[in-house]
This record gives sequence, C-alpha cells and structure tokens, in this order.
Amino acid sequence: MRAVLQTTPVPSSVVRCSLQSSQPVPAARLPYRVTLTAGKRYAWCVCGHSKKQPFCDGAHSTEAPGISPLRFTPEKHGAVMLCACKQTKAPPYCDGSHFRVIYRDAVKLVKGFFK
Ligand code: FES
Repeated sequence: MRAVLQTTPVPSSVVRCSLQSSQPVPAARLPYRVTLTAGKRYAWCVCGHSKKQPFCDGAHSTEAPGISPLRFTPEKHGAVMLCACKQTKAPPYCDGSHFRVIYRDAVKLVKGFFK
C-alpha cells in the first residue's frame, strides 16, 4: 500500500496574517538616548519592528498594519530617553516600564529551567 500525502493549499493572506503582530514588540530592553532638535517632527516607532529604532521606517505597514507611528515635535533641543520596550505609559519617552519587561522575561526564563 502506498501512502499519499495530501496538502491543502493555504492562501498567502492567511499565512501573512499569522506572522503579523497586533501588539507592539520590544525593540530592546533599555531606552535609546537620542538628541532631539526643537521644532523638528519625529515619528517614534510604536510597533517595535523598525530597523531605525527608535524611529519609524515604515515596517508597521507589513509587520503590524494596525499600529501607527507616534508623530511628535519636541519643544526643547536636547538629549532624551525614548522608549525601546514599547510599553511606556508616556510615549515616546521612557517611564521605566522596561523594568517590568525585563522582570517578565527573567521570570519566563527561570520557569523554562524548571519545565
Ligand atoms: S524603554 Fe520602554 S519604558 Fe523604558
């Protein structure tokens, strides 16, 4: 007897949806220190997929279509800490939420050792 492998074609749109994220993903676990120019417009990456962190490079349009960048114009020139973990409650600025992300990752890692 000969086995026949049957496969069901999956539309590419279905596959693509499973790879896209609807929630931001951490780009890094620590904030980015950047110098901003007063009056200049910036687009902070909200989705976490940009290769030009912490700024948007348009990756959200394919990786996370439901998420848009946050456009902002700083009033003062100077160095600031922009969020990289994408969990801040004061976007685009770091508010220390990355400590929760680091803690959550550490707990997950430790639990993995005891499985
Ligand atoms: S890097 Fe996101 S809150 Fe600090």
